Amino acid sequence: MMAVLPTLPKRLHGPSVWALYAIGFVPAALAFYLGATGRLPGNAVKEFEHLLGLWALRFLVATLAITPLRDLFGLNWLRYRRALGLLAFYYVLMHFLAYMLLDQMLRFPAIVADIARRPFITIGMTAFVLIIPLALTSNNWSIRRLGQRWNKLHRLVYLIAAAGALHFAMSVKIVGPEQMLYIALVALLLAWRPIRMPYLRWRRQRSGIARPHRPTTQKAAG
Ligand code: HEM
Repeated sequence: MMAVLPTLPKRLHGPSVWALYAIGFVPAALAFYLGATGRLPGNAVKEFEHLLGLWALRFLVATLAITPLRDLFGLNWLRYRRALGLLAFYYVLMHFLAYMLLDQMLRFPAIVADIARRPFITIGMTAFVLIIPLALTSNNWSIRRLGQRWNKLHRLVYLIAAAGALHFAMSVKIVGPEQMLYIALVALLLAWRPIRMPYLRWRRQRSGIARPHRPTTQKAAG
């Protein structure tokens, strides 16, 4: 398999995951700092909420990209997938809290009405509810306990990402290039799933035909 990037020394694998968590929270910290010091443009609450939602979607896309990157380019970044997924969860949670606390100020009747009446909020809320069990089972203990069921459960991420992208597109009056980009990215990443097994099988077969047991025969001939 082709190595596109230089491989990270093994001793840096753990620290690099922690670095990812640290870097991953920078956009939230920055948005919070800018919001708290009155430097977010326009409606600061909306801007804060939007930034968190956008980063939630970005981390979802990054989580879903890990498998295709390995299949197609041989990049083994599996060790970052849990961190990316959990970052997506924490951003969805912060986005949701920004909505509940800052946007709606915990006016529960208004919130319930909003969830029921505005389809894009219903969809966002569905994605939020679905991502909770995934976050709760993103630990070694749960993976061991659940076995095959863990894989089944975590297939919910496909639905969550689709709902997230749809929620984004439906939150605007006119769907622009940014919404289209996320819809397209999620669609491509989901479309890869049914293709990958036939693709990997095809590639294995092809390389099997291209390289039939050569070194020994060459040695014998030479
Ligand atoms: C997986 C879950 C979710 C994702 C990925 C997500 C993502 C996003 C994104 C990308 C935006 C647009 C940001 C922008 O315009 O720049 C947005 C807007 C918004 N989201 Fe979410 N969201 C999620 C869940 C939720 C939930 C649970 C709620 C509340 C119950 C919610 C409420 C809102 C609201 C109120 C807006 C702003 C709409 C406006 O412009 O007024 N979202 N979300």
